[in-house]
Order: sequence, then C-alpha cells, then structure tokens
Amino acid sequence: MAGNEWMRRNVPRLWFARRAVRRFMPGESAEDALKAAEKFQGQHIPVLFTRLGENVTRAEQHEAAADHYAWLIEETHRRGLDGEASVKLTHLAMDMSPPAMQKHMDLLAETAAANGNRTVWIDMEGTDYTEPTLAEYERLKARYPNVGICLQAYLKRTYSDVERLLPLEPKIRLVKGAYSESVEIAYQTRREVDANYMALCVSMLAQIKAGRGLFLGLGTHDVRLIKQLAQHARSIGLPRTCFDVEMLYGIRADQQRRLAKDGYNVRVLIAYGDYWYPWYMRRLAERPANVIFALRQLLP
Ligand code: FDA
Repeated sequence: MAGNEWMRRNVPRLWFARRAVRRFMPGESAEDALKAAEKFQGQHIPVLFTRLGENVTRAEQHEAAADHYAWLIEETHRRGLDGEASVKLTHLAMDMSPPAMQKHMDLLAETAAANGNRTVWIDMEGTDYTEPTLAEYERLKARYPNVGICLQAYLKRTYSDVERLLPLEPKIRLVKGAYSESVEIAYQTRREVDANYMALCVSMLAQIKAGRGLFLGLGTHDVRLIKQLAQHARSIGLPRTCFDVEMLYGIRADQQRRLAKDGYNVRVLIAYGDYWYPWYMRRLAERPANVIFALRQLLP
C-alpha cells in the first residue's frame, strides 16, 4: 500500500487519516518540528529531523528539499538546538540525477560542519537503492567526517556492508528495516531479524572496544534488545553510552524518557512535511495495532 499511487494521492485528503498521523508527527511544518525539538531539549533529549519526501520526479522538488535542509540545519544552530538532519537520497534526486544528488549532499555536509559540526544522516530505502546509497556514503565519507548512514538488520548483506564501511570510520545507525523485501535477500521472521540485529551489534561493539573509529546508533524501539546490548557492552567493559538509542517521535515516548533518565544517550527522530503517506503506511505495517488506532480516529 505504501507504493500505491492512487492511495498516496487520496488517503492524505481523509480527515481521519490526517488526525491519525498526528500520533507520529508534531505537525506538517518545520516550525512544528522545531517547537517539538525545543520541548525535547527541555528533557535533555536531542533530536533528528526528517522532512518527509522520496522519489521526487521534478528538479524543483529536489532543489527545494536541499535548500530546505540547508536552512533547517542553520536554523537549528541559530536556536541553539541539538538536532541533526536525516535525509532520503531519493528525496534529493538519486533517481533522476545522481550529480544533482551529490551536489546537494556536499552542500548539506558542508552546512552541517559549519553550523556546530553536526552530522548529516542518510536513511536507507528499499533494496533497489542499497548499493547506490552505500556508494554515495563512501564518496561523502572520504570528504566529510560528519556523515552517517542507516543500515538494515533484516538484509542478509548487512554484515558485509559493515565490514566494507569499517575502514572509513563510519557512523552507523542500525535499524531492523521497514520495507517489504524478498526471502532471498532479507530475513523475514522477527526472531531472525532480532538475532541478526544482535549479532551485528555485538560485532560492532567489539570494534568499538578495540578502539576502531565507529559510531553506533541503535535505531529501534525494542527496549529488550537495547537492554541486552547494554548488558553485553558492560560485560566487555564498555559503558551504556558507547551507543546512542534513536527512536521515532510518538513511539514509546515513556521509554525514551526513562532510558534518558537511566543514562542512555537517547535521540528522537521528528518527521514532518505533507508527503507523509508512504512513511505513515510503513509505520502501520510495523505494528498492525496502529491500523485500529487509525480507524478509531473515525469516532467522535
Ligand atoms: P519492532 O518492530 O520489533 O518493535 C519493538 C517494539 O516497539 C514493538 O513491540 C512496539 O512496542 C514498538 N513499535 C515499533 N514500531 C512501532 C510503531 N510503528 N508503532 C507503535 N509502536 C511501535 N527503516 C528503514 O528501512 N530505513 C531507515 O532509514 C530507517 N530509519 C529509522 C530511524 C530511526 C531513528 C528509527 C527508530 C527507525 C528507522 N527505521 C528505518 C524503521 C525501522 O526499520 C523499523 O521499521 C522500526 O523502527 C520498527 O522496528 P523496531 O526496531 O522498533 O522493532
């Protein structure tokens, strides 16, 4: 459903869908996102910002997205907020013009470096884009230290992708993965995905312990897994601050606060913008109970 064009055009017009999506977004405008970030700052929780958009088809769309992110990074700095941008490369023209995408990413990495030495994060999309996304990360990381990339634990290739990136001293956000991928290339069951997530983290923590330059962010709401990894880190002599915990706005907010209180480095990703349909569908797919929540919005 996330890829259905008719649904994408029509669902956002439904008032109850607009009401339901507010659970995962403070609002559609950048100001809504910045205001939410100010609230998190009050709880000592830094943020990530994503302006929703993907697979753009017109030059003015990717130019506008790049300009917006550059402005957002400067504005975040101007307001004294601890916030970083997390972008999708297909929002910045990866499909239609790789040279334009590279120009946009250079601009964002430079703007982020000049505004408080922030990191710019690259989201990982469906597997048609895995290889070009990794290649762009390699290109960028050779020029700018302040870029990070998301990798997906459901993909069978991810272990070798980590190995491939290690010499670059990468910043990696590990997520379970949000797209529908085939059994040939992706683990399908929750047990398998969790086991691979754990194995990948154990191996990255060993690299951190050995003093390799590697930043690890756990992009998951799976608190059981986070705690197991903190225990494992402790068993090899690393503090719980050896990784960041990154969660989405509106999901397990109580745990976000609790983990921050317990001394974990927590960061919350705030998504905003009006192109929320495919992203929202992926949030529903992760947890079918969210569909019931969305339907309940029909009630007065
Ligand atoms: P899991 O699905 O096992 O959920 C663990 C628990 O978290 C659930 O039991 C439930 O309590 C809660 N939960 C999880 N999802 C929920 C939801 N939608 N609604 C309500 N509760 C929910 N993916 C990707 O492919 N590319 C990317 O670039 C990113 N980027 C990204 C950044 C950040 C900061 C996060 C947190 C996640 C992503 N993702 C992503 C999404 C990721 O791949 C994954 O789909 C979701 O995080 C859900 O998986 P969990 O790891 O939370 O575990």
